[in-house]
Order: sequence, then structure tokens, then C-alpha cells
Amino acid sequence: MEKSVVSDLQQLESYYQQEKMFETKYGFFGQGGREYIIKTPLTPVPWVNILTNPDYGCVISQTGCGYSWWKNSVMCRLTRWVQDLVTEEWGKFIYLRDNTTRDYWSLFYKPCQTKFDKFEVRYGLGYVVYHTEYKGIESIITMFVPPDAPIEVWKVKLRNLSGEEKDLSVFTYLEWCLGNSEDIHREFQRTFIETSFDENLNAIFATKRKIPVPGFISTGLKEYPGDGFHSVNVPPAGYEGDKRNFFGLYNTAMNPQAVVEGRLKNKVGKWNDSIASLQVNISLQPDEVKEIVFLLGYDQGREETARLIKYYSDLNNVKEALQKTINFWEEFISPLRIETPDPVFNILTNYWLRYQAIAGRIWARTAYYQYSGGYGFRDQLQDSLAFLPLKPELTRNQILLHARHQFTDGAVYHWWHPLTEMGAKTNMTDDLLWMPYLTLFYLDETGDYSILDEKVPYVDASDQEETLYQHCIRAIDLVLSRFSPRGLPLIGEGDWNDGMSAVGLNWKGESIWLGHFLYGILTRFVEICRYKKDEAKADNYLQKAEDLKKAINEHGWDGEWYIRATRDDGKPIGSKNCEEGKIFLNAQTWAVINDTADDTRKSQAMESVEKILLKDYGPILFYPAYKKPDPMIGYLSRYAPGVRENGGVYTHAACWAIQAECILKKADMAYEIYSRICPIKRGMNPDLYWVEPYVTPGNSDGPDSENYGRGGWTWYTGSGAWLFHVSINWILGIRAEKDGLRIDPCIPGDWKGFKVKRTFRGAVYEIEVENPDKVSWGLKELYLDGNKIDSNLIPVKSDGKLHEVKVVMGR
Ligand code: GLC
Repeated sequence: MEKSVVSDLQQLESYYQQEKMFETKYGFFGQGGREYIIKTPLTPVPWVNILTNPDYGCVISQTGCGYSWWKNSVMCRLTRWVQDLVTEEWGKFIYLRDNTTRDYWSLFYKPCQTKFDKFEVRYGLGYVVYHTEYKGIESIITMFVPPDAPIEVWKVKLRNLSGEEKDLSVFTYLEWCLGNSEDIHREFQRTFIETSFDENLNAIFATKRKIPVPGFISTGLKEYPGDGFHSVNVPPAGYEGDKRNFFGLYNTAMNPQAVVEGRLKNKVGKWNDSIASLQVNISLQPDEVKEIVFLLGYDQGREETARLIKYYSDLNNVKEALQKTINFWEEFISPLRIETPDPVFNILTNYWLRYQAIAGRIWARTAYYQYSGGYGFRDQLQDSLAFLPLKPELTRNQILLHARHQFTDGAVYHWWHPLTEMGAKTNMTDDLLWMPYLTLFYLDETGDYSILDEKVPYVDASDQEETLYQHCIRAIDLVLSRFSPRGLPLIGEGDWNDGMSAVGLNWKGESIWLGHFLYGILTRFVEICRYKKDEAKADNYLQKAEDLKKAINEHGWDGEWYIRATRDDGKPIGSKNCEEGKIFLNAQTWAVINDTADDTRKSQAMESVEKILLKDYGPILFYPAYKKPDPMIGYLSRYAPGVRENGGVYTHAACWAIQAECILKKADMAYEIYSRICPIKRGMNPDLYWVEPYVTPGNSDGPDSENYGRGGWTWYTGSGAWLFHVSINWILGIRAEKDGLRIDPCIPGDWKGFKVKRTFRGAVYEIEVENPDKVSWGLKELYLDGNKIDSNLIPVKSDGKLHEVKVVMGR
């Protein structure tokens, strides 16, 4: 394992000497790219990190704002937060008061907007370190969520640099939510919350009172009422559970009365607007250092919580837990490592894209923009692509979890919420197909056909268990039953593009993209049917696939590209005859990806993409954007032109363009697209791009926006997983297939080669690709453990051993 990161004072010094990569006025990558260091709190928008394990998590920004949750970031949010990225006012705060001068400030930029003498925030995989200096006090706050407990740890280390003795008080502050994040009717919600103080544990406990029956609540607010605690490792000088006591009358978090006056009133109970604040007094001699450990967590029962509080009271245990957290992430990502001549590609692929997909989208399912807490049927299946080369058993779990949210008629929840199990059954027409789609990927990765026999109940018939195979068949068959007289799938309330929400409400409008998507699934699923000895199904799917391909090419070709869809009134969307939305990206890329087009149409469609859709910051979703809301299209036409799905660059779709170019062996074009959407490269112009350079946004504004080029919703679902997936599978071309590992690079011609270490079906492959002739694709020679093989497919070994693969590119 590589050198791990330990956040100790002395070691911090050595980090400063490390090479700064991709530095801008806001920050840079350090530690070879596994950390991003922010140099100022004044980034153009909040730049966040997500700390999470599968059960507990928090999101925090460089200003110190953010929130925490247990299991469901919306239905069981622990602390209150308001999504206001402009004022950025809600968080869990730490104040410091100099009791001699009565000066006070926040140890994060918020809420006091402290004008620090020194400021740095380090984001790593699983931790955040805030390092500041102000009025002679150095503060290093290390925060992390350990892999095995429902808590977050805040280790606060203070050093007196002032040369004088200091009499200080530390105050923490957070506001309990303990249920649905949207508790805007606070005067109602707060009456259910009760706090208490446990002197033995130095902890405030908070509960949102529950009853076992759900019943009707007049606000209609669904939630999972939760229990939280906030503790400190030393006996506090005071505690507070009442917001009114903390703030005083009409003050704000910038000047709360308790901090101004330097004391808490020790009030807890049932009649408050409940918060938690703990006060710790410390005196520091010149140069003296002291550390305090605060915890915030979910209370799963007093005994277990007491155990956690006691364990984390010991600083040595805290250090060990931090190291364990760092190791957890290192190990998690270790089955796949790459090294290419492009450091940008390495940083994103080795660290941040997978972290975004796993921590951000599968476990947290939240961030500063898209917060849902629920599982999107298509979203988290796509995100679970990221698990495949790392821990495919987690993709397996994800597939089976989604299968449990399917109805007996084959339809699925568009999204549902763990803990409350509330869900929405919609007429979205693609959601259900992502289950067989991911199953196919899982089978290629693992060869574990037993997943097909896993029995899973239906959401509307808990006693009716069927195999995953049958679940997939029900999904595919439902889509096949919703066809137009012309033999094309109906779009219903939308397909992948949620915003095309009105195109086919009367079940007449058709989707060409869905046709491409379905065709690929049908042709690949035939093999699964044959494996299951379901010959009739296999023959049927094969026939349906052929008919579909014919219909797509007969009715879907517009002359130079494929149309995207037809509306209920029969008019096309994405045709040269349209005034707006003349050409759509997904309708072209998926014709290549899933092989619905012949070679001529494939190249023609992609040439149209390059000519019309490819802009400075990547290929936009369609062109031109809709300028006014169109009731025959849906809500995407309500977005401002150029924003999100209304003609912006959408990362998933841009990734599919990269894949399509790789399939056509247009390597330079593929990498050009990669570079145009790459957040690190975009981030080098931060005042245009605005958002975090270490994770992907869902979208960035297209040319019809006055903010052309501005990054949109970061930490977005699908975007990290897809960029990770196409980087490995299509640019480096290392793909799991049924019979082995395919080596099919499609790289920039000036790369001298690259290395990949990848675990595949229980064996480890160290792949070294050389490119002496500076070609972009094509293999001349391939050696497996020194033996030449005449194919670019490495056969399955499954022997738990390390294998050397040497590849020489050339033609
Ligand atoms: C949405 C969804 C995703 C969808 C995409 C395009 O916001 O999260 O499911 O496919 O963006 O509309």
C-alpha cells in the first residue's frame, strides 16, 4: 500500500512541500492527486466533500457549512440545512472565544466570515482537514466518518502562537432536524423533538418522538424520525439544547448571544426549538497544543452509543480510526490502478470519479445540488457501474435491491426511499431496462450466473418471489408490449431524459433512443435466455430485435442523423425540420454503441454530432435549445436555454459520445471530447467554470446560456460512474467480457503507452501497454506471462495469482 495520509501537525509541514498540481487561485491537487487543497474560502460557489459509509454521512463545504444524515440523506437528516448556495448559511459550526479580549470567531469561514491570517482546507477520500490561523491561534480540525460506525468525528487541535497565555472557550453548534429535510414547517416539527444531557457521557441526546404506526400527519410530511447525539471527550463547561437560549433575541449565527457572553445555560427538554451546543474551556500556554474530540452521530441505542463515545474519547483511538478510514478507502479503490502519460486522466480515474460515484451517489445520494436520499431506479444502477472492477458483489447487491422495487406487471419505481419505502411508480419507459442492462455487465465482470437464480419478491407482492432472470424478463416484456404501430417503443412520460416529460403522455409518442437502448439489451439478453434454456424467449427476442432495428432505420433516419423521438401528435423531435431541438446527441451515440445503424449511418450520425453538437466544452445534449416552455416536450423546455437538459452539456451523454468515438476508432476525437468535459481541465479556468475541479458536474451550460461554460450540478449521479467507465473500458479499452479481459486501447497517438493493474475474476493482471509506433489503436503483440497469444482477449484465469500482460500496440 502506498504511503497513507496522517493528519498530524508535524506531518502537515511535509505536505506543503509536495508538488502542487493544477494550481489555480482557489486551490490545487496534492498527494499525487488524491487530495484537493482549497486555498481560500471564497471559491465561486461552495466546493464540497462527502464523508460517508453505507449508513452514515455528511457533506461539508470549504466554508464549514453542510449537513449530516443516517441511512437516508433526506428522510432521516440529522441536522438542518437550507439549500441556498448564495448565502451558504447552514451548517454545524465551531466558535472560538478569547475570554480575555471577549473576541470570538468561527473556526470555519462560516458563520462569522472570519478573515483568517492563514486558511487551507484539504479534501481527501474519507476526510477533510481545515487548517487556519487567526488572532494567534492555529486550528486544525480533522473530520472523518469511520467505515464502521454511524458517526462523524471532529478532532479540533488548537495551538497558541500568540506568545501569551490564552483563556479560550470552544462552542459547537448544530440544529437538530432528525427527520425529513424539508421541515419548513418548523413550528410543527420542533414539538416532536426532545433533548437531554448525559453527564457520564458528556453528550447531548436528541430524539424525534416516534409511534409505531405511521398515521396521517397534517403536513403530509413523510420521514423516518431519528435519534442523534453530540458529545465531547472532556466534561464540558456547559451545554445547550434550546435555540432561543443560544441565539438570544433576533441574533444570527454570526453573533449568537451564548458565544458573545461566553456561556451556555444548560437547558434541554421537550419545549425547545432543539439544537445542540457544547462548551469546552481551555487555557493554552504559549506554543501549547491541545486537542478536543467532538462526535456527532446517530444513536442506535444507549449502550452502543456509550461504547462509541468512550472509544473515541481516547485520542489514540481517534488517530487509529482516522488511519483506518484512510486505509478503508485506499483498499476499496486498490483493485484497479492506472498510470498514463496524462496526470489529469490518472487523478480522475484513480481517485475522484470512483469516490464520487460510491461515496456521493450510492451511499450518500446527496450533495449540494441533487439531494434525494432515495434510490433512482436508473440512477443508482448506473452509479453501481463503478463497483464492477472494485467490488462487483456490491453491484450484485444493487441489482437485487432494485429488483425488489419492481412491480409484478414489470414496471418499477422511478425512485423510492429506503427507511420509509415511499416510492413513485411513473410512466417513465426506460427505468426498468437498466436492471437487465446492469445484470449483463455484472455477468461479464464476474461470470457469476447464480445471480440469475436469486429469488426476489415484487414490491406489490411481497410473497411472490421470482428469480432475477424472471424479473428481467418481466421488464423487457413490458417494454416490448408498449410499441407503436410502426414498431417503435413508446416514450410515455420520458425515457433517459427525465425532462422530456410530456412527449408521450398519451402513449402515442415514440422514442428512437429507447429503441437503440432496447435493441442492445435484446441482442445481448438472447444469450442469457439460451443459457437458461429458454429457447422460445431467445428466438422471440432475436426476432423482436431485428424488427426493431428495421423500424428504427425505416422511420428514425432523418437524412444525416437519427431523430430523437416523435410526439403524441406524430411530429418528430430532433429533426432538421424542427425549429429548435433539431438534433439530439443520444439518438446518434447509441446507434453506434448498440449497433442499430450500419457503418455508413454510424459515421454520418457521428459526423453530424461533431459538426453541430460538439462545442468548446463538449457535445451538448441537443441543438438549438428550447427558448420557451413547450407543453408537447415537457419540463426540459422550462429550463433556461442552454441550462441542464435544455441544450447544455450533460456528462453522461458526453461520455457516451466518447464511447461511440472509440467504437469508431476515432481516438483523437474521443480524447478531445474527454478533454473538453474534463473537470480538472475545465477547472483551470475557475472563474468561468465555477465548480469543483475534482468531481464531475451533471451538466455545464451550453452556448444558448449567458453563462456558457459554467459547470452545473456537481457530485451528480451517473456522471462520475460513466466517465470512470468509459475511461477504463473505452479509452484504455480494458473491458470485462464473458470469456475474458479485452485489451483494446483507443488512446491519443502521442501516448508512449500506459499501465493498468486490474483485478478480474479473482486474478490480478498487471498490464503494460507500449506504443512504439505512436498509433491510437490496434495491437501488434500480446504476451500473457511471457507467452504470446494471438488475440486481444486475455482468457479467464481465476487462480488468485498475479499475471503479467505485455502489449505492443501497432498495426
Ligand atoms: C436526471 C436524473 C437521471 C436522468 C438524467 C437526464 O436528473 O437524475 O435519472 O437520466 O438527469 O434527464
